[in-house]
Amino acid sequence: MRVVDVIAKKRDGDTLSREEIEFFVNGVTRGTLPDYQAAALLMAIVLRGMTIDETSWLTDSMVDSGNRVDLSDIPGVKVGKHSTGGVGDKVSIVLAPLAAACGVIMPKMSGRGLGHTGGTLDKLESIPGYRVDLGIEEFKAVLRDVGTSIIGQSGSLAPADQKLYALRDVTATIGSIPLISASVMSKKLAEGSDVVVLDVKCGDGAFMKDEAGARALAASMVAIGTRAGVRTEAFITDMDTPLGRAVGNSIEVIECLETLNGRGPDDLTGVVKRFAARVLVLAGRESNEAQALSRVERALSSGKAIETLGRMIERQGGNRAVVDDYSLLPSVNGRERCLAPRGGFVTRMKAEAIGLASNLLGAGRTRVGEPIDHAVGVILLAKPGMRVERGEPLVEIRHRDGRGVNAALALCSDAVTIEDDAQPPRPVILGDVR
Ligand code: URA
Repeated sequence: MRVVDVIAKKRDGDTLSREEIEFFVNGVTRGTLPDYQAAALLMAIVLRGMTIDETSWLTDSMVDSGNRVDLSDIPGVKVGKHSTGGVGDKVSIVLAPLAAACGVIMPKMSGRGLGHTGGTLDKLESIPGYRVDLGIEEFKAVLRDVGTSIIGQSGSLAPADQKLYALRDVTATIGSIPLISASVMSKKLAEGSDVVVLDVKCGDGAFMKDEAGARALAASMVAIGTRAGVRTEAFITDMDTPLGRAVGNSIEVIECLETLNGRGPDDLTGVVKRFAARVLVLAGRESNEAQALSRVERALSSGKAIETLGRMIERQGGNRAVVDDYSLLPSVNGRERCLAPRGGFVTRMKAEAIGLASNLLGAGRTRVGEPIDHAVGVILLAKPGMRVERGEPLVEIRHRDGRGVNAALALCSDAVTIEDDAQPPRPVILGDVR
C-alpha cells in the first residue's frame, strides 16, 4: 500500500477501507509516515469528510495505537465524561465529586487548556500540592476509595491522537467532525469506562458555532461509542457565553467550591445537576431523572459532595483545607474593571474574546508546555439578561502587575453587547443526543 494513493483516494472523495485507515494510523504512531503526508490526508478528510464507518475505523485504530485502561476490577458502572471545551467550563470539577457522592464511579482523565479554552488540569493544579500525574494503579486506588479521581491523560492512551492533534493544531485541520469525533472517542474508549457522557459545546467560544454542527458532532460521537459497545450520550450546551462567572484557574476552583456548597451561579448549578441526574440513571443508581435529581440535591445540601471533593484533593496530594479556606489558593491584588458604555440590557457576552482576555492575563497558553499564572483571570459581574446602568462594572480583570491588562480590557469591552430591549435568555442545555 502506498500512502500517496490513500491521500489521492480521499482527495477525490472516495471512501477509505479499514486497512487503509489502519495503515495511516500505524504510520503516524510509529513515526514512519512523514508529517507532510499525514497533514495532506488530514486536509483531504477535512474537505471531503468521512462516513461513520470510516470514522469508527479511525477511532478503533487510534485506540489500538496505545493501551486501554482496565477498570473491570473496580465494582460498579464506571461513567466517563468529556467536554469538547469551552470558556469557564468547570463542570467536571463539580460533577465528578457530586456523582461520586451519589455512589457513581467516575474516572476522569482531563486535558490542559489551549487557545482560548481552559483546561481542567490547569484549574486543579491551582490547589497547592494537587497531583495530576498519578500512575494507573494509584488512579485506580483513589477511584476505589473516593469514587472519583481526576488526573492527566496518560501518554500511553491513544498516542496516535497526541501526534495527530499536534499536527492538526498547526495545519488548520482541527475543525472537522470525523477528526474531532475520532480524537475525543479514541481517548474515551481507551479510558475503560462502561458509559460515556459527552458535553458538546455550541456557540461563539466552541469549535461548533451553530446548533446544527454541534448536533452533528454529538450524533457522530454517540454513534462511534455505541458501535464500540459503550453506552454513549451527549448533551449539547451553550458556549456563546462563558459558563458561570469566573474564567481563569484558582477563581474557577473557588466557583466550583461555592457550587458544591449550594452557592454557585444558576447556569453552572443547573447544568451540573442535570448532568449528575442523568449520570445516576445511566449508572443504574436511580431509575428515573426526577428521583436522581432529589438524590443529587441531597448530596449537595448534606455536604457529602464537597466532602468527596476534599477527599479526592487529599488523596492526590493537595491541601484539603482549601475547601474551607479560599485564601490558600493563589490570588493577585491587581484589579481593573470594564464599565458599561451605556444603560440597557446585556444581550451578549462573547465567550471566545473573554477566554482570550483571560489567557492574555497569563491564565492560559498559546503553545503546549508554556507556564501559566493560576491566580489571574476574569470575573463576569454582569451576565446576559441583566439590566445595567451606564458606568456600571461589567467585568473585573484580575491581573498580576498589569500584565495583559489593556488588551484584556479591550477584548472584554468588545465582547459585551448592551441593547435597549431584553432578549429571551438562551437556555444552557440546548438538547441531547441519545
Ligand atoms: N478535543 C479533543 O480531544 N480533540 C479534538 O479534536 C477537539 C477537542
